[in-house]
Amino acid sequence: MSDVTTAGAAEQAPLLFSGCQIRSVRSKNRIVVSPMCQYMSVDGGPVDWHLVHLGRFAIGGAGIIFCEETAIEPDGRKSHHCAGIYTDEHVAAYRRITDFLHSLGAVPAIQLGHAGRKGSVGGAMAGWPPLTAADATHGEPPWQTISSSPVAAGPNFPPPIALDETGIRSTLEAWSQAARRSLEAGFDICEIHAAHGYLIHQFLSPLANRRTDAYGGSREGRMRYAFEVVEAVRKEWPADKPLFFRCASVDGRGGAWGIEDTVILAKGLAERGVDVLDCTSGGMGGTSDMAPSPRVPGHQVAYADIVRREAGIHTMAVGLITTPSQAEDILRSGAADLVAMARELMYNADWPAHAARELGVPDYLSVFPPAYSFRLRRRNEYNDLYPPGSETVVPLSATQSVPYEWPAEFLQPLGNGKRPLGR
Ligand SMILES: Cc1cc2nc3c(=O)[nH]c(=O)nc-3n(C[C@H](O)[C@H](O)[C@H](O)COP(=O)(O)O)c2cc1C
Repeated sequence: MSDVTTAGAAEQAPLLFSGCQIRSVRSKNRIVVSPMCQYMSVDGGPVDWHLVHLGRFAIGGAGIIFCEETAIEPDGRKSHHCAGIYTDEHVAAYRRITDFLHSLGAVPAIQLGHAGRKGSVGGAMAGWPPLTAADATHGEPPWQTISSSPVAAGPNFPPPIALDETGIRSTLEAWSQAARRSLEAGFDICEIHAAHGYLIHQFLSPLANRRTDAYGGSREGRMRYAFEVVEAVRKEWPADKPLFFRCASVDGRGGAWGIEDTVILAKGLAERGVDVLDCTSGGMGGTSDMAPSPRVPGHQVAYADIVRREAGIHTMAVGLITTPSQAEDILRSGAADLVAMARELMYNADWPAHAARELGVPDYLSVFPPAYSFRLRRRNEYNDLYPPGSETVVPLSATQSVPYEWPAEFLQPLGNGKRPLGR
């Protein structure tokens, strides 16, 4: 297991806000923005939307901020609007974002991916329909997808081409080059996306992988491509920088890849320089008795827990984690080293600052950048100047005033014993 250390954490201080060191990279807390596709890229490159979208998480105080899945080659995107880092021209555009995140004390992270047979589709809001020749008329022609085997992703999907040895080498080179560009673009953490039914998952799961050569058949054969991708990325990704790996801990509805497979995979990944397993699930359908992971709070935490204990690798828990005490309990229980969140942070990008208050961090406003915390601290000083219920008048002129009525809600403590902010 590589080194993840807590720094400056008093025994009772919330673990969520304890610093965390992985290789040479230090995060100020354990709150991670999980990758979120935006379908807003232009020719793969990020635009102002991405700066603002990711920047608001940095202002809100998240420690590690992942960009969305970023394709290693143009055909590795899902749609024409997906992100990529497949030309050197992309580097400067991402650098603008990483510089901004760094300036706010956040750790910028990139998730590299290849959609494989799930590529060549329209956007998420349209339900990812496979592109057809008709889409070419509005500038979005379909493309030939690739996979481990010529097995279509679903009933309406055209079959992909199975990668031969030369094709595999070519994608491995693209993974390497994408890792090199990610470093040049200023990212501190690189994650390999091997989940959600995308290319690496298409090699791992026997539902998609029907190969009879060295990349298929046994679990060892099916894991080979994943291991080669890790080696290709590690070749360019420096030894002092953390490498994460997002795995489908279990395939999902009707799947065939289970947690025992993930534990074996995780051990092999750790030997090859992966630091953290990001434990998600699903994305690969088929026919077996496996049920989908139920969408209940923290439904994937058990996967992170098992992998951490049985494979001896650090893990990141993700999936319907929404409350501060839930996140804190996950860390305290030892199920995971980091907590990743997507939708709750989209709903409330300032969640880390609110969580710090709820978990009793004394100077919780310091989670914000000084431009915010300075003013917010001043606002809190009014609490001392004007205790709730104190007799107060509002001046109208030098000689006139009207009495002030305290709104009832400011006189009642909240459920957590605190009074509402904003006085
Ligand atoms: C808008 C959106 C886009 C997403 N895009 C990605 C992605 O690019 N890569 C990925 O691995 N997961 C992606 N996910 C999944 C999230 O990273 C996360 O695993 C999932 O939403 C569960 O976490 P949550 O319950 O906190 O939202 C996306 C989720 C959302 C809501």
